[in-house]
Amino acid sequence: MGEETRGPVARGTIVQMVVIGSVASALGIALGLIIDWFPTQASKQADKIDTFWDVLLIVSVPVFVLVAIVVLYSVRTFRMKPGEELLDGPPIHGNTRLEIVWTAIPAVILVVLCGYAYAILHDIEKAPAAGNELKVQVYGQQFAWTFQYREGGKKVDTTRLYIPEGRSVKFEVHSKDVLHDFWIPAMRMKIDAVPGITTSYRITPTKTGSYPIVCAELCGLGHAFMRQTAYVLPPAKFDSWLKGKLNPAPAAAAGGGTQTAAVDGKALFTKGNANGATACGACHQLADAGTAGGVGPDLDKVLAGKDAAFIKESIVNPGKEIAAGYPANVMPPNYEQLLSPAELDALVQYVLKATQK
Ligand code: CUA
Repeated sequence: MGEETRGPVARGTIVQMVVIGSVASALGIALGLIIDWFPTQASKQADKIDTFWDVLLIVSVPVFVLVAIVVLYSVRTFRMKPGEELLDGPPIHGNTRLEIVWTAIPAVILVVLCGYAYAILHDIEKAPAAGNELKVQVYGQQFAWTFQYREGGKKVDTTRLYIPEGRSVKFEVHSKDVLHDFWIPAMRMKIDAVPGITTSYRITPTKTGSYPIVCAELCGLGHAFMRQTAYVLPPAKFDSWLKGKLNPAPAAAAGGGTQTAAVDGKALFTKGNANGATACGACHQLADAGTAGGVGPDLDKVLAGKDAAFIKESIVNPGKEIAAGYPANVMPPNYEQLLSPAELDALVQYVLKATQK
């Protein structure tokens, strides 16, 4: 005992480790490539980014397998056996050849991957040659996104993001308060919204449809609800939408009570609307609606005996009076934009009725 020398690892053992490692790497890579990691590709940029992901996966799996196999081998072979408690290992003075090898190989891998990544980034950040690019201003604010289109000195503000298929779109991203991150997973690109500076990226949508917008930077209690939808329209449809917004028809239909009857305040409370208004019940407790909430104040308590004007003010201007024990800026301040006047009215009437007991 203690006599055995720990000389070079036997050739047979190395062959065995190489075979196990190769098989494990092949299985790992196959599994990694089979798994469908991402949502549908909805932009020209998506394909290149997904290919890059696959390349990273192919390179990383063997590295992981190598490290895991050496660790497992060492744990098995060099573990302390009974009677060896006081034994010290042989003194080691380094191995220059080994150190050069294990520094050079990772360095080469990293330089090659960085070069490839740079080439892709350079490619997808290029401005379109035609110059027919649409610019959209994106504003992050706790806890919603708003968008602004500027054309010929006119501005269009909206809570719904519409973009045209097949045309390069440049998002100029701003923040009105804290850090957010503007991300449309189907388009793959994302960037931080940083207070005080404008960040940007461009994508070219390739598929009409609707795609989730996600805030990818923890920005407060409502971060998880900072989700909206991007709508990719055929170019002609997009142009007519934007033109209609830039030159709105005189509000001829205003004042007609036709829509009011159709709005269900309770449904708005429990489900929100398609325009991005999150359900009130997701954060607030209200017995009549059967919601548990937990994020915001219990409405049965804080709104008991309050009138319609107070309830409306609490919805459109939540920062004005904060219920005791709740932090400010938790509730999105843009419900007035997300709800139509008829919806806002129906919601106020519903909450009024539900809290008057
Ligand atoms: Cu905004 Cu997270």
